[in-house]
Amino acid sequence: MAVTGSFGFTGRALTERLLSAGHEVVTLTRRSGEGDPLAQRISVQPFDTTDPAALVASLAGVETLFNTYWLRFPRGTSTFEGAVARSATLVAAAREAGVRRVVHVSVVNASPAADTPYVRAKAALEVIVRSSGLEWVIVRPTLTYGPNDILINNLAWALRRLPVYGLPGLGRYTVTPVHVDDVARICVEAAAGPSGVVLDAAGHETMTYRELVDRVRTAVGSRSLIVPMPGIAVLAAARLLGLFVRDIVLTRDEIRELTSSLLTSHEPPRGEIRISEWLPANAAQLGRRWSSELDRNYSRLPTG
Ligand SMILES: NC(=O)c1ccc[n+]([C@@H]2O[C@H](COP(=O)([O-])OP(=O)(O)OC[C@H]3O[C@@H](n4cnc5c(N)ncnc54)[C@H](OP(=O)(O)O)[C@@H]3O)[C@@H](O)[C@H]2O)c1
Repeated sequence: MAVTGSFGFTGRALTERLLSAGHEVVTLTRRSGEGDPLAQRISVQPFDTTDPAALVASLAGVETLFNTYWLRFPRGTSTFEGAVARSATLVAAAREAGVRRVVHVSVVNASPAADTPYVRAKAALEVIVRSSGLEWVIVRPTLTYGPNDILINNLAWALRRLPVYGLPGLGRYTVTPVHVDDVARICVEAAAGPSGVVLDAAGHETMTYRELVDRVRTAVGSRSLIVPMPGIAVLAAARLLGLFVRDIVLTRDEIRELTSSLLTSHEPPRGEIRISEWLPANAAQLGRRWSSELDRNYSRLPTG
């Protein structure tokens, strides 16, 4: 089995699940894996799309490719157009290497007509995956949480420390959060199920964003005042906080995606873990440290 980004968030959960099921895993990554115990258990190969022949060699003998590679936002030379092109090269290399199936991780409600470039680019990549000539399954997660996630952890971080938390609008838009282990399980099951399928990876509970914030606030014992604000004010506050934590906290597009209920699944839930139970059970660790997107994915690493 091959996984792009085994040292990442979803890729790690997926890799752990594949290893537990007795599979050998090769990961395609920018990272060396040095200092990460997972690196001892898998084969670490470069995800270098400027060298397609090396990609083909890395994928030789692989039955299924799980693709989690994506950018959260464009920055510097990393663009969504570039990410689509890199993914297209990857899929072509998989075909040449004789890989049977690609399980591609997309995003819920991916559509070429979506409001934001992230979601439109995801839709463009889905077209490439469908026409790859490989067996394919597209898994579309909703907002994904779990150990070391960014969004819920940093929401908890803010609620633990700030006297006021700015909610974009009234917070009546909905989310269907899914645990990363459920996403991993759904992907692994998709590898053995029918080909040519698009399915959401969504949790059991659909709730308003205000409810989600309230649940995290209660779980971590926060006394922050939750204040509805115009999206533009939340963006300004997020930028200010970003200067302090040296990160990009939230983008304008992410606010648009959130407030338009884009992160809501309309399919029957496939997730088994309930966020209403997970939050109190994991509250002790939640939000203790800031999880930095820039440190994880944009600093001192080759871009792509
Ligand atoms: N997290 C969510 O809430 C959520 C919701 C819906 C859909 N998804 C989708 O789920 C998939 C996995 O997301 P994730 O949250 O688990 O992401 P992630 O771990 O942050 O990123 C996935 C992989 O993409 C590569 N990557 C990330 N940023 C990059 C950059 N700036 N330049 C080059 N490579 C970069 C990394 O691979 P290496 O560093 O190993 O090379 C990383 O392991 C993505 O397709 C995402 O769109 C996520």
